Amino acid sequence: MERQDLLDAYRRTRDRTERLAWPLSPEDQGLQAFPDASPTRWHRAHTTWFFETFVLGPRGVPAHEPAWGVLFNSYYEAVGPRHSRPERGLLSRPSTSEVGAWRHVVDERMEELLTGLDDGALAEVTPLVTLGLAHEQQHQELLVTDIVAAFARHPLRPAMLDLPDLPPVDPPDEGWIEHPGGRARIGHEGVGFAFDNEGPAHDVWLAPFALQRRLVTVGEWAAFARDGGYATPSLWLSDGIARVRAEGWEAPAYTRLEGDAVVVFGPHGEREADADEPVLHLSFYEADALATWLGGRVPTEAEWEVAFADAADDPWRDERLVPAQAASPYGAAWQWTRSAYEPYPGYRPAAGAVGEYNGKFMIDQQVLRGGSVFTPPGHSRPTYRNFWPARTRFQATGLRLARDLR
Ligand code: AVJ
Ligand code: FE
Repeated sequence: MERQDLLDAYRRTRDRTERLAWPLSPEDQGLQAFPDASPTRWHRAHTTWFFETFVLGPRGVPAHEPAWGVLFNSYYEAVGPRHSRPERGLLSRPSTSEVGAWRHVVDERMEELLTGLDDGALAEVTPLVTLGLAHEQQHQELLVTDIVAAFARHPLRPAMLDLPDLPPVDPPDEGWIEHPGGRARIGHEGVGFAFDNEGPAHDVWLAPFALQRRLVTVGEWAAFARDGGYATPSLWLSDGIARVRAEGWEAPAYTRLEGDAVVVFGPHGEREADADEPVLHLSFYEADALATWLGGRVPTEAEWEVAFADAADDPWRDERLVPAQAASPYGAAWQWTRSAYEPYPGYRPAAGAVGEYNGKFMIDQQVLRGGSVFTPPGHSRPTYRNFWPARTRFQATGLRLARDLR
């Protein structure tokens, strides 16, 4: 990557975080709605800490406030001690404006570094800077979904953004992509950035299958719920029905039936959903039960990736159906897969602390494919492997249906 392209990408990405946080007051920016969520201010600080720790520090630029490291180290054992994640909401200091000032300092130091390095040193640091920018984009999505989690529980149901005039919802495409099965290749190889968990590329064997062009809709979910789906154990995995009972789930997160309507909450506040738009905020358990009720199943990650490549001339088309921060060409929702988040054959995490980025989380989680209405433009890829535990609902998670062909 050219020096100027890297500098432009750096400025654009850092600026987007600040624009997302801009409508949020300092009080908003301190909220932590649940133990795995983080305050807006913390996301702004942690992404800054990432550049300071992994790019500037090793090149001799000292930390702005060395004492803050413990606050904004998320999970890097090799870097040092960390403040407890469920208690990030107690970090009233540094203040929101001090975090803003720190971002400014680090941006100046980063620009100075990237401008001053010779070509060889720049080539060496580019993968780390690129990782830092992809990391910041992941936190942009988390920033939005985490503040939505807080606002959803505020009795006045505040909106983070003004509700745009929604385009009319197109009738969903009822087509399926059919694949004859056999040997196929998945995973990232070749040019451009990818996270380490997307490789190595390797061959897989597929049985004949079909994958639906559209996502499962709000209308389909509502029919499932009205049919008693949440009270029909035969549709559910054992852990799923246990979770339904323990949590009293009757609908996806931020969603409720109100008479004939389905009311949803998001960054734009509360609104009535269109029956044809994709259903969001499903746990894997709900996705699996819903797929069963619809007569299909949840796809594997290999099926998703191979079918997406086959759809390249006529790709997924549902991205415009939900008011979006940014439209993802891979779908309006991250799509649950039946694949456990496991290393691909031959996977090796990078040496050093950044090797903790993905590899150590490869246990007890499901892979999600695609992207969502909250995913920053240009962030995802056909090989992208997102991952969350099966119970997760705060992200924009949905379902694309698969079925067997025989
Ligand atoms: C890939 C979204 C599960 O939230 O822990 C952020 C992204 N990794 N910082 C997460 C991530 C490091 C990750 N997810
Ligand atoms: Fe992080």
